[in-house]
Amino acid sequence: MKKLWGGRFKKEMHPLLKCFSYSLATDGALLESELSVNRAWVKMLGRIKLLTGREVSALLKGLGALSREFSGKAVCEYLKDYEDVHTLIQSKLEDRIGKAAKKLHTGRSRNDLVVTSMRLYIKEKIKSINGRLAGLERALISLSEKAGGAVIAGMTHLRKAQPVLMAHHLLAYVEMLEEDRARLGDVLKRVDVLPLGSAALAGSSLPLDQSFLARELGFSKIVSNSLAGVSDRAFLTELLSVLAILWMHLSRLSEDFILWNSENFGYIELDDAFATGSSLMPQKKNPDVFELIRGRSGVVFGQLQALLTVQKGLPLAYNRDLQEDKPGAFDAVRKTEAALELLALTLGSTAFNFQRMKSSVDDDALFATDVLEYLVRKKVPFTEAHETVGKAVRYAQETGKRMSDFAIQEWKRFSKAFGQDVRQLFRAEVSVNAKKTIGSTNPSQVKKQIQRWKKILK
Ligand code: ARG
Repeated sequence: MKKLWGGRFKKEMHPLLKCFSYSLATDGALLESELSVNRAWVKMLGRIKLLTGREVSALLKGLGALSREFSGKAVCEYLKDYEDVHTLIQSKLEDRIGKAAKKLHTGRSRNDLVVTSMRLYIKEKIKSINGRLAGLERALISLSEKAGGAVIAGMTHLRKAQPVLMAHHLLAYVEMLEEDRARLGDVLKRVDVLPLGSAALAGSSLPLDQSFLARELGFSKIVSNSLAGVSDRAFLTELLSVLAILWMHLSRLSEDFILWNSENFGYIELDDAFATGSSLMPQKKNPDVFELIRGRSGVVFGQLQALLTVQKGLPLAYNRDLQEDKPGAFDAVRKTEAALELLALTLGSTAFNFQRMKSSVDDDALFATDVLEYLVRKKVPFTEAHETVGKAVRYAQETGKRMSDFAIQEWKRFSKAFGQDVRQLFRAEVSVNAKKTIGSTNPSQVKKQIQRWKKILK
């Protein structure tokens, strides 16, 4: 099979080295981007007169035909015959249009080509992930609306702490995911740079029109150092860092839903289409979507670590090690797209068990902080009030009484500052409505947040 090199070699490559080094199975994902880069490259070579008008037409026609030939087809049937996506396109083009194809690779190397196609591909993927992320945020907002004013026991250390709105809890994730979306937007600026013209490493003596290429391919900038152009993968590393953070959020969200789906909480009911069963225990209905996402977050963290380690210690400029940038990164991107889409669908079909949420706040200890702040409003020093309420909680535990049932004389034994009105504090609605700070779980705040998000994510 044809190669993009070979003149100085007397022998064929050993079959084991072929298997070891060929990369089409991975960089085949770049096929569409690579065809776009090639179309721009051909037009550019025509403009600077390194191709005749006739050659330009022949090449563009050939590339168009290749694009149709490949469209919707997996490249797997070519895997053993072609070293990489660049070689596949070059050889197939030669088969189709003959001699003119030999001018396609003028003035460039696969080192600059591969990183250009990658940047183009990643730009598209960032847009797609961004869109899916917005979709997941919208699903969380719909779910918040579905939850309405339902209150659950908010937790710290996985112990009941204070009542919060279920909607407030869900919107916390919207807040985090929206930051991830902003981070993705930032990465895009660094991906949006054209490395073509770097040639293998030193730039080219040919009058390659990089501005034209940048315009044609939609890049905002041209790389200003050819060595960095071919060898830096920070744009990809930054993307994986942002994806790692995103997956950390997805994993936490999944953990919450796993807990809520457990019999111990029972706040939610998953749709049958988004749950799985057990081969042994007939009664089981399991939250595998969330568990797989929690598990895959670990894989994505590893992919970031791998990419960093691949680059560490590489002398400038290009080294073949850099081929190892792709498998993990592409897999992370695909995993992210799939997870975001599936999560949005799963959340969209999740129902609430309002009764179980309600029972979660049927626990007077949840209102201890409200009692504490009541005393502070009655001018009792905070630390003293804390001690006082702590004693009341202990007394309730020891006597098996509910604080909400304490007689006023009992309260007065803990502090003279207590009045009849303390007995009104032991209701979830009272607790959440009492919150005053920006970003609190007060239902009117939460409602405003929902309206704000709906506008942002329209
Ligand atoms: N497959 C290589 C990569 O992904 C690109 C080709 C560069 N190969 C080379 N021998 N210079 O990085």
